[in-house]
Amino acid sequence: MRVLVTGASGRLGRAVLPRLAEEGVTVRAMSRHPRHDDRAEWVAADLATGEGLAEAVTGVDAVLHLASAPQRGTHEVDVLGTRRLVVAAGHAGVRHLVYVSIVGIDRVSFGYYRHKLAAEEVVKAGPVPWSILRATQFPEFLEELLDRSSRLGPVVGDRAVLAQPVDPVEVAARLAAMLTAGPSYAIEEYGGPQVLRFDEAVRAWRAARHSRRPLLPVRIPGRVGRALRAGGLTTTATPTGARTWADHLADTYGGTGRK
Ligand SMILES: NC(=O)c1ccc[n+]([C@@H]2O[C@H](COP(=O)([O-])OP(=O)(O)OC[C@H]3O[C@@H](n4cnc5c(N)ncnc54)[C@H](OP(=O)(O)O)[C@@H]3O)[C@@H](O)[C@H]2O)c1
Repeated sequence: MRVLVTGASGRLGRAVLPRLAEEGVTVRAMSRHPRHDDRAEWVAADLATGEGLAEAVTGVDAVLHLASAPQRGTHEVDVLGTRRLVVAAGHAGVRHLVYVSIVGIDRVSFGYYRHKLAAEEVVKAGPVPWSILRATQFPEFLEELLDRSSRLGPVVGDRAVLAQPVDPVEVAARLAAMLTAGPSYAIEEYGGPQVLRFDEAVRAWRAARHSRRPLLPVRIPGRVGRALRAGGLTTTATPTGARTWADHLADTYGGTGRK
């Protein structure tokens, strides 16, 4: 099978490439910038302009669509860019498109999530047979959040918010299985093995970093706060990944050698 992977240079993409190679999949990896490595044929294309997309999708059996722009230009890249990709893939006769989305986009009303939801609709309405995987947060993302929220000293956050970090390597394995299985025309959810409260996650993070930063509790107001505390970003779907937040912290700070 020949698969185009969009967002191949990103966090999930870097986990997906070796996994697909192990499965014997021929990978065409997409980035906006020219890149080279031995594991994949890299192509340059931009979802925001459509440049390079027709060439990128030519001759592939499936597309694994990971690319996203959460910070800037989200509508242009995630919604309109997904539409450009789906249309190009339809013209090229691609037989399966797997889209990676996020658990909770239908429950928590963040601007980025509204764009992801719209992108899902584009995939579902498009001409290419599809499958969607909604994953929970990657532990690296949770760490970035903790870093950002502790810039002024204490870790500022709502201690009752629930998270369910999942290892991108395990998400990559799930995606590889979905590619092999073929289009499901369904949205599947995939989360980590544990649901953690924000204060539990902070305690473990502080201990792993030998940090004494206090937690400064704030209550996220309104509907978004209620949804986050009610587990809007978590899932009861099974199977789950096996690697825990503690495993991630041990790999990162405990010298297990995995990172
Ligand atoms: N992070 C999380 O915790 C999390 C959890 C669940 C699901 N997800 C979803 O998983 C997917 C991958 O997330 P990630 O954390 O791996 O993302 P990431 O590290 O931020 O990587 C984003 C990728 O998107 C590509 N990209 C951005 N703008 C583009 C454009 N205009 N045209 C083409 N490519 C573009 C970038 O490629 P170049 O810079 O090389 O062009 C980059 O490889 C996303 O769809 C995200 O919503 C993420």
